[in-house]
Amino acid sequence: MMDRRMMAGIAVVALFSVAMGCVPPPRVAGPAEATAVVERNGAVDALFSPPSPDTIPGDLRGEQIRLGYKMVVDTQGYGKRYVGNALNCTNCHLDAGLTPGAAPFVGISVLYPEYRARAGRKMSLTDRINECFERSMNGRALPPDSTKLAAIVAYIDWLSKNVPPGSAVPWRGIPRITSTHSPDPVSGKQVFERRCVFCHGTDGQGTMAAPPVWGPGSYNVGAGMARVSVAAAFIKANMPRGWGWSLTDEEAFDVAAYINSQPRPDFPGKARDWPNGGKPADAPY
Ligand code: HEC
Ligand code: HEC
Repeated sequence: MMDRRMMAGIAVVALFSVAMGCVPPPRVAGPAEATAVVERNGAVDALFSPPSPDTIPGDLRGEQIRLGYKMVVDTQGYGKRYVGNALNCTNCHLDAGLTPGAAPFVGISVLYPEYRARAGRKMSLTDRINECFERSMNGRALPPDSTKLAAIVAYIDWLSKNVPPGSAVPWRGIPRITSTHSPDPVSGKQVFERRCVFCHGTDGQGTMAAPPVWGPGSYNVGAGMARVSVAAAFIKANMPRGWGWSLTDEEAFDVAAYINSQPRPDFPGKARDWPNGGKPADAPY
């Protein structure tokens, strides 16, 4: 499983590092192409193929999909009651979950339910969305019968409609970078000053141009982004915004270590994480 994801990550890196420091738009396949699948290692591979917005139905289901999209891009407005920081889902799931390299939502419906080691149980897509509400958004879970929760699921299901069940979804997640370099927050502070303050502010609290990266408006310690390896991977692929792949692996690790060494909200449920073991070495607690 890990191996497969790492392989997929390497493939994605190879695919997107061809252009000089700039991520080209993903190749979008037409529906006919998308359903042309090949068998490999027993799993079915599909192409990254987000549907065209004109395929959103004009009925209630379409309304639900559109509400889900709004929840993702304007979580502050539409999901206000459940959010405890200054972020929107799309700040990390870039372009409303359409960007490979930034944990895209395309295709992921087919992967759930799935066992997750952090929770120590099988999780549905709704459970996984609520994890991001509680951690990345430092907020609280939406009730299981919530229309807004169902709307986000409808949006992700719609984005997954061209991906056949059983697909490996090779573009999933954030392509991890492996480095033997031990992350150095002191060098990371310099990287931050040179490459990040312009948008995120000298105090990391965000500006009109970008959201906060630490402090009360940021993700909490229980979030995936609070792990240095995850933040480094995200930063490498996507930051500075519009100039992904322009930092070295060392710079990405150092700046990730720097921002994650700054204060951020706690996550009260953290003591219950990884109940059956498997806690990653860079978990901050
Ligand atoms: C040109 C402006 C710009 C620069 C420079 C920039 N960012 Fe960002 N960053 C953004 C924007 C905008 C977002 C939110 C993306 C969106 O909503 O589309 C973001 C999102 C993020 C996020 C995820 C959301 C959050 O706030 O936690 C992290 C982490 C991050 N940036 C780190 C960095 C780091 C580290 C650097 C320096 C290497 C950097 N950024 C440089 C504009 C920038
Ligand atoms: C601070 C950044 C951040 C924010 C904000 C955020 N997420 Fe996430 N999300 C992540 C990370 C990191 C992952 C795990 C990616 C990985 O492991 O490669 C993730 C994973 C997910 C997944 C599972 C993806 C998969 O491949 O199975 C879903 C679904 C999800 N988030 C939904 C949301 C929703 C909905 C919101 C807004 C309510 C949100 N996230 C806000 C960072 C964030």
